Amino acid sequence: MAEFSLPKNSVISKKGKVHPAPAGAKRVKKLKIYRYDPDSGDNPRYDTFEIDQDDCGPMVLDALIKAKADADPSLTFRRSCREGICGSCSMNIDGKNGLACTTALDDIKGEVRITPLPHMDVIKDLVPDFTHFYAQYASIKPWLQTVTPPPSGKERLQSPEDRAKLDGMYECILCACCSTSCPSYWWNSDKFLGPAILLQAYRWLADSRDEMTGERLDELEDPFRLYRCHTIMNCANACPKGLNPAKAIAEIKKMEAERVV
Ligand code: SF4
Ligand code: SF4
Ligand code: FES
Repeated sequence: MAEFSLPKNSVISKKGKVHPAPAGAKRVKKLKIYRYDPDSGDNPRYDTFEIDQDDCGPMVLDALIKAKADADPSLTFRRSCREGICGSCSMNIDGKNGLACTTALDDIKGEVRITPLPHMDVIKDLVPDFTHFYAQYASIKPWLQTVTPPPSGKERLQSPEDRAKLDGMYECILCACCSTSCPSYWWNSDKFLGPAILLQAYRWLADSRDEMTGERLDELEDPFRLYRCHTIMNCANACPKGLNPAKAIAEIKKMEAERVV
């Protein structure tokens, strides 16, 4: 299923700027980049940046950095680690959500269209507003909650088997590629927590040291917060870390169904 969908505040205007490649460039890659500056009062537009691949790193993030450095310093995007670890550079690249720093330019045929993550409000250019996403994350209390003191006053130990139950969840970098590719999240993000936050919720439900399982399940037992997931699986296809939020959501639903209240 195509994941391309424009940000919320999008009526694209036709005129965009073209920044040509330097004379003599032999391996030219065209980037068509969504530009939007709410302070300007103008509609969003696409600008074209022609990048000389012989004078640029191999990843989409390298090309964005080059475009900003050489052609237009006002081009705005997030990045930090350039190693697929921080989750900052998530965006829609050629119709698919992903990380700019781990997506190779050569893996995309022809022109590369880059837009912000779909269905988010845009602060500027490729920078979406994560305020609501982070508030939803805070709502699931993403930390270890206990009522009993640690055994013998020291650490709370976990067996290797129990620790292994967190595999497939602790690796999540909260990039939101999954949530912003989920149609249920597009239409109900005010109430549905979406795959990223639900995967994080299950990460704490599955933690053998946490003692608030009942309270956590009470919070999620809601027609919208959890049950708006219709197992469409876009989330698992979008995750750049190879995680499967839909499976975590199914595990939460199973815990809800099996619990004795
Ligand atoms: S499986 Fe659920 S959470 Fe994942 S994309 Fe589909 S509806 Fe969204
Ligand atoms: S589950 Fe994957 S796509 Fe979703 S926020 Fe975590 S790392 Fe990103
Ligand atoms: S810059 Fe950190 S994930 Fe891309």
